[in-house]
Amino acid sequence: MSLVKIHSHTAIGSEIYELTFVSPVDLQAVGCEPGQFLHIRVTDSFDFLLRRPLSLCKMDIEHNLVTVVYQVKGAGTKRLSEKQVGDVLDVLGPLGHGYPLHALDRAALLIGGGVGVPPLVELARQLQKAGKVVHTVVGFQSNQHAILISELAAYGAVTVVTNDGSLGRKGLVTDELTNDFCSSYDRYYACGPTPMLQAVQQILEKHKLPGYLSLEERMGCGIGICVGCVHKVSRDGQEMNVKTCKEGPVFAAQEVLFT
Ligand SMILES: Cc1cc2nc3c(=O)[nH]c(=O)nc-3n(C[C@H](O)[C@H](O)[C@H](O)COP(=O)(O)OP(=O)(O)OC[C@H]3O[C@@H](n4cnc5c(N)ncnc54)[C@H](O)[C@@H]3O)c2cc1C
Ligand code: FES
Repeated sequence: MSLVKIHSHTAIGSEIYELTFVSPVDLQAVGCEPGQFLHIRVTDSFDFLLRRPLSLCKMDIEHNLVTVVYQVKGAGTKRLSEKQVGDVLDVLGPLGHGYPLHALDRAALLIGGGVGVPPLVELARQLQKAGKVVHTVVGFQSNQHAILISELAAYGAVTVVTNDGSLGRKGLVTDELTNDFCSSYDRYYACGPTPMLQAVQQILEKHKLPGYLSLEERMGCGIGICVGCVHKVSRDGQEMNVKTCKEGPVFAAQEVLFT
């Protein structure tokens, strides 16, 4: 656990905030994997003892700052949105296992939905730095919910779709995943709501594209103790429950089971 100071905190969309604070670890020395998350205590009072998991979105190694982007969903994220620059946050992490990078890959397809998009920014940066071609397909409810498009565009092509057609093409991210389009990539990396992940998994399995899914489970401890975050996977022909906080949140797509 580290107490860290808020550097900036701004609204970037409808009830969506970008929060930058001093990294709980020395980024030069330790580094972080894209897809890892921070577990943040939203207040000091006893009514919010449980932390809230938020993905690492950006890392500023030079100034030792990290950024998360979050949507106000319930009382915890509402409280977080009221924090001011200079306030101190109690942060645990970075936790979990992020997205693996593959040395021999040439091109990566990133797929994000809603507030599943934030971890793809740091992933796109690291992939591009490693010399890969990066194409990101992002989907949002509407123009008002669209976030981080210019950040992603700094690292490669971005295709935007919205449910109502108010930005980019009208439709779902899965509409873009034709066999022809996907054949240009070696691997995919996805993060978003569970129904989106399930649909992406089904389609890309048909196109024979290997990939990773970042699962969103409700979390208590974030460090493998409470067993509150289990998800079913299939490994070596056996079904088993794994702790998303410790073994994930990123898993190989072919092993994830959805019920
Ligand atoms: C690994 C991981 C990374 C995430 N990254 C982001 C991100 O980058 N941006 C973002 O906007 N959201 C992200 N989420 C979802 C975010 O954690 C929840 O929206 C948030 O915890 C809701 O808290 P609340 O108090 O506002 O809502 P409440 O409904 O009051 O939450 C009550 C409890 O349920 C848990 N909870 C509620 N919804 C979720 C959820 N969807 N996932 C996990 N726990 C939940 C909370 O941690 C808390 O313990 C992530 C979730 C996980 C598991
Ligand atoms: S959140 Fe406690 S074991 Fe995963």
